[in-house]
Amino acid sequence: MTIRNVRLVTAVAIALGLLLTVRHVLTAEGASAPNATPGKPYTLQVPFGLEDLASYIPKDNPLTVEKIELGKLLFFDPRLSADNKVACGSCHFPFMAWTDGQKVSIGIRGQLASRNGMTLVNRVYSTAQLWDGEWPSLEAQALNPIFMSVRMGMPSPDALLKKLNAIEGYRERFHQVFGTDVTLDGIGKALASFQRTILSGNSPADEFDFGGEEDAISDSAKRGLTIFQTKGRCARCHSGFNFTDEKYQIWALTGTRRT
Ligand code: HEC
Ligand code: HEC
Repeated sequence: MTIRNVRLVTAVAIALGLLLTVRHVLTAEGASAPNATPGKPYTLQVPFGLEDLASYIPKDNPLTVEKIELGKLLFFDPRLSADNKVACGSCHFPFMAWTDGQKVSIGIRGQLASRNGMTLVNRVYSTAQLWDGEWPSLEAQALNPIFMSVRMGMPSPDALLKKLNAIEGYRERFHQVFGTDVTLDGIGKALASFQRTILSGNSPADEFDFGGEEDAISDSAKRGLTIFQTKGRCARCHSGFNFTDEKYQIWALTGTRRT
């Protein structure tokens, strides 16, 4: 893809993202500041083959309908970047399994990153983010690309907060959800909450492996699964319900610099 095409895809992705509906089922308590309106509690419907989520949601950032909606707005809003052109959704396209499908990502002003935008599917289960596990939580990770010069290029936290606080809609929503103006803490929590709703399961492999449905996959795929689990030794690292051991195999050892 040329940079121009990527920009076009980005625009489409942002439009689609805004249209995507998030499925809501309601349970527990939500607001995090005394003057915030208690949010409508939200429980994710966990697709077949994935573990129950309850123990994976941080106590200080419960899921609420309003917070997830705010996170979704932020995720697809290019105004979080210095030139108003790059959103989180510019490198994590919903229709490409939340990747950018590139060898390396293209950030603000057409700059090339050193790695590509990886999938955001089932991140709720992970205690480490990025190719090298640099960030322990989705909350901490979310602020990072906004200030990276090659990704979204915002010059400073102050510049970001000034910009977003000048947008009436954001001020209102932050007051509703967190009882404060726009803060870094709130941005991180809202973006993390939205990303926790991105789940994928109930695959033919799940139906076969966990559900015992003999016909869910072909004979050829069954032979592949046997190799995957035995002499291919794939399951050594791609293990468990989410096909990952959450360990870092190479990047962590080489300490490769990234942009
Ligand atoms: C210019 C492209 C670009 C933009 C914009 C971008 N990302 Fe990413 N994202 C990446 C790349 C590249 C990686 C892998 C980075 C690494 O390992 O260093 C990544 C990784 C991630 C991961 C880790 C996923 C995992 O499996 O560990 C999360 C979460 C994430 N991005 C969320 C976001 C959020 C939230 C935003 C907006 C605030 C955002 N990204 C904006 C390119 C981008
Ligand atoms: C020693 C651990 C290890 C083993 C064994 C292993 N993998 Fe991986 N695999 C990884 C890591 C780490 C990554 C992600 C990092 C990367 O792409 O360099 C990965 C990435 C992948 C991806 C890309 C996933 C994506 O989201 O882009 C596929 C597909 C894959 N492995 C399949 C296999 C298969 C099939 C086997 C067995 C033949 C296998 N792996 C064996 C560690 C392993």
